[in-house]
Amino acid sequence: MDTHIDLTDSLEKIPVKIFDTPLDGSVYVAKIIAKLIREKNAQGKMAVIGLATGSTPKTLYAELVRMHKEEGLSFKKVMTFNLDQYYPMEADNINSYHYFMRKNLFEKTDIDPKNYFLPDGMIPKDQIKKHAAEYEKKIEAAGGIDLQILGIGQNGHIGFNEPGSPFYSKTRLITLDNSTRMANSHEFGNLSEVPRMAITMGLSTIMKSRQVILMAWGEVKAPVIQKAVEGRPTEEVPASLLQHHDNVIFVLDQSAASELTRFKSPWLTGECEWTPKLVKKAVVGLATKLGKPVLNLTNHDYIEYGLSDLLVEKGDAYEVNLEVFYMLRDTITGWPGGKPNAVIPNHPERSKPFPKRVLIFSPHPDDDIISMGGTFMRLHDQGHDVHVAYQTSGNIAVTDEFVTRFLDFAVNFERIFDIDNTRSKKLFDQATRFLTEKKSSEKDSADIRNIKGLIRRCEARATCKYVGLSVDHIHFMNLPFYETGTIEKKPMGREDVDITVKLIREIKPHQIFCAGDLADPHGTHKVCLDIIMAAINEIKKAGDDFLKDTYVWLYKGAWQEWDIDEIEMAIPMSPGQVRKKRYGIFIHQSQKDSVPFQGTDEREFWQRAEERNANTADLYAKLGMTRYAAMEAFVRWRF
Ligand code: F6R
Repeated sequence: MDTHIDLTDSLEKIPVKIFDTPLDGSVYVAKIIAKLIREKNAQGKMAVIGLATGSTPKTLYAELVRMHKEEGLSFKKVMTFNLDQYYPMEADNINSYHYFMRKNLFEKTDIDPKNYFLPDGMIPKDQIKKHAAEYEKKIEAAGGIDLQILGIGQNGHIGFNEPGSPFYSKTRLITLDNSTRMANSHEFGNLSEVPRMAITMGLSTIMKSRQVILMAWGEVKAPVIQKAVEGRPTEEVPASLLQHHDNVIFVLDQSAASELTRFKSPWLTGECEWTPKLVKKAVVGLATKLGKPVLNLTNHDYIEYGLSDLLVEKGDAYEVNLEVFYMLRDTITGWPGGKPNAVIPNHPERSKPFPKRVLIFSPHPDDDIISMGGTFMRLHDQGHDVHVAYQTSGNIAVTDEFVTRFLDFAVNFERIFDIDNTRSKKLFDQATRFLTEKKSSEKDSADIRNIKGLIRRCEARATCKYVGLSVDHIHFMNLPFYETGTIEKKPMGREDVDITVKLIREIKPHQIFCAGDLADPHGTHKVCLDIIMAAINEIKKAGDDFLKDTYVWLYKGAWQEWDIDEIEMAIPMSPGQVRKKRYGIFIHQSQKDSVPFQGTDEREFWQRAEERNANTADLYAKLGMTRYAAMEAFVRWRF
């Protein structure tokens, strides 16, 4: 491993390697593993590798499998020890890490089943201590771990060593943090089904490995990566203790690295080039920190907070303040499709052509109204030709109880109106039987999935009608990558891109809106965005003329908002518009109250949307802009 990585600045206490995508990072790590295996094998030795599970290493394992199949990388002389296993849990439960490892790596390579080890999730409780000690001994007998692969929890855990785990801890039974159970609940479908305990290697077990590579992807990991790399080493953030390891590297994608000071506040790490974007970021950050409107910042404020460099470049606080004030002001507009017959050079959108053809992509059947309902309504009310394309069926997020209610309705609807209901009755009986006998980890039958999808389609159509769209402007794409019937989706495929290319070519939009949610690199929103980007790039390559006039605007998903300094278009909403949007969200009844796989945030979608839009308006007001009731925010993707 290349340990002579330049530590960009002294703030970073752990060498960090940053890649454009999780795939690039995984390929890099896979190469290190392959090299280790070949070197050890050439010396006639086994390579001993510590493995992690979870969403992070999936692309790594896929790459290792590819290397095995295409490049003859053999795992015959490889021994592996996994970090952890839920407790209690059988090895063949689909949520067990045994199952995960078999499916993602072991069964797809030539590793000898005698050579891989994981803690036993079914060992009787009174034998766990002995089992754990034996696990440690087995590692020692193998000569210790040559290379340990790690992921990181949002709370900083490595393995399942939750915050507070002692530095000298060994393999043991632990109680999972509630935040970890919530973070992992999407794998189970329901928080109550996530085990409360796990057996994990200890921190000292991990520290004893000769090399450690920690991988992390996506914005959700960015805050904890910053703490682990730049913070004081503390048991409160177990990954920060890796600062004490002398052969460790963090492999990150850009999103996971984004909170590091060199990106967040580069002026604090030495020389930096003051682009307008960076000036805006620095000044907005300063004003927010001090709770002052931008125009009230003084020379003293700049100097005290490490921005004297900026004053040297620009002259005086007054000049910088004005520059940033105008930048912020120019992002605000009530005309998301551009203001017709007006010449406003700094307006985020062009006034011509008018009306515009607008294509709103919504990953699930309700993201359009949740994330950009106000803008959606304005675009339609201002006379633009608005189309909505629902990328996935969203069928996974409808409860069984909801389906039963609708089937009951269908059967009785037909009975009341004397329509032959034998078919729907049969379906109802089958479905009821299926749902009563369904095991927690079992997939829905194709019929049930179909009905769940239909329920969501009807809700989406009702919302479009509420906004005023005609039926021929609503497109249900049912992208195949989503249709697995499980939380785990397929990667994007040819067919997904083809369907998207076809629709874009059909509409030839002047504006495309899509979810630019990068928080979860494996989530549906990200795949949906990747598909749109791939489609646009293909159309661009083919040289279609219309694309020259297309602006692509990204909204964030239901959970987060863009940072204020990133926002390029902010659409204000009046209290009346906020209420109208709320009723639009209410139409999605299947998503109210108890949505399956909701994650850690217990607020309903309309509450999240309202709080987030009000918060954006409040932040703008605090920076010295006009105070609106709410605001929706967009960033432009320049392809
Ligand atoms: C997995 C493990 C955990 C995960 C961490 C991140 O064996 O021990 O520490 O690495 O929870 O999980 P993902 O990758 O799902 O975000």
